[in-house]
Amino acid sequence: MESSSPILTAHGAAIPAIGFGTSMLGGRAAEAVAAALEAGYRHIDTAWKYGTERGVGDGIRASGMPRGDIFLTTKVSHEYLRADDFERSTNESLRTLRVDQVDLLLIHWPNPDIPLKETIGALVKMKRQGLTRHIGVANFTTVLLDQAISLCQELYQEPLVTNQIEVHPYLDQTKLLAACRRHGMIVTAYCPLGRGRLFGDSVLAEIACSKGRTIAQVALRWLVQHGDIIPIPRSSNPQRIAENFQVFDFTLSEPEMARIAALKRANGRIANAMGRVGAWD
Ligand SMILES: NC(=O)c1ccc[n+]([C@@H]2O[C@H](COP(=O)([O-])OP(=O)(O)OC[C@H]3O[C@@H](n4cnc5c(N)ncnc54)[C@H](OP(=O)(O)O)[C@@H]3O)[C@@H](O)[C@H]2O)c1
Repeated sequence: MESSSPILTAHGAAIPAIGFGTSMLGGRAAEAVAAALEAGYRHIDTAWKYGTERGVGDGIRASGMPRGDIFLTTKVSHEYLRADDFERSTNESLRTLRVDQVDLLLIHWPNPDIPLKETIGALVKMKRQGLTRHIGVANFTTVLLDQAISLCQELYQEPLVTNQIEVHPYLDQTKLLAACRRHGMIVTAYCPLGRGRLFGDSVLAEIACSKGRTIAQVALRWLVQHGDIIPIPRSSNPQRIAENFQVFDFTLSEPEMARIAALKRANGRIANAMGRVGAWD
């Protein structure tokens, strides 16, 4: 029988401490999601842009699991951040997923050509219409995050529960992590395995070997051990899907945590749509 993951909370949202990523899975999404649910994941991350919402919905249905047991996130793409487009895209996502509501709806990337005030208004509207239980952002820098939170608070008294950003040992996100913490938000960590780039790392290999674990498990454990970071690893392989979930039954020592943090490097960023964010932190 599979084990369950801890739950993290922020502004009224209760989110399983590890999620399953579904980008780039193409036609394998349904099978992978079913394998993830079988392995114990109860948090699935998708997006209109990934083209996997249909497969995610199929995988959830195939699992036979009650909808209420699964925390489901989707995102509205940067092309659709005008109020009308935002609403259309959200409704399309729900139809494709074949659910009445998602648990979390995110702005996938900021778009400097569309006023943030308009997009935040649309995001809040989706929550108030019951199309999503919670709202958040992705790829927001500290500057954009401050603007988004001010708009949400001042105009609507609505909280943003997460900022979904790239986090893994090769990228220094200290400043943005601190900003999210200051705002009481959970950080959702995408590319938590560096999209495969971590697997040749000798420090991670040494720590993994000393603990009888894999590099993937050490990298994911490093993230969850921060206490407010939720990694969303993706895999198409049922064995690796299960392996990535087994990160709550061991701990890294403080020196191991520090050694992994020291792996950060200047060229560590993978998802770099710079034009959309202005300057990274
Ligand atoms: N908000 C955003 O802008 C944004 C951007 C990027 C990603 N995301 C989200 O974050 C999720 C995760 O990021 P990602 O998919 O880019 O990368 P990732 O999870 O860091 O890495 C995925 C890669 O690692 C391999 N892998 C997974 N587990 C493994 C293991 N135990 N051993 C060896 N290889 C393993 C996978 O190959 P196999 O399939 O062969 O196992 C795949 O090639 C995405 O799927 C998506 O949901 C969000």
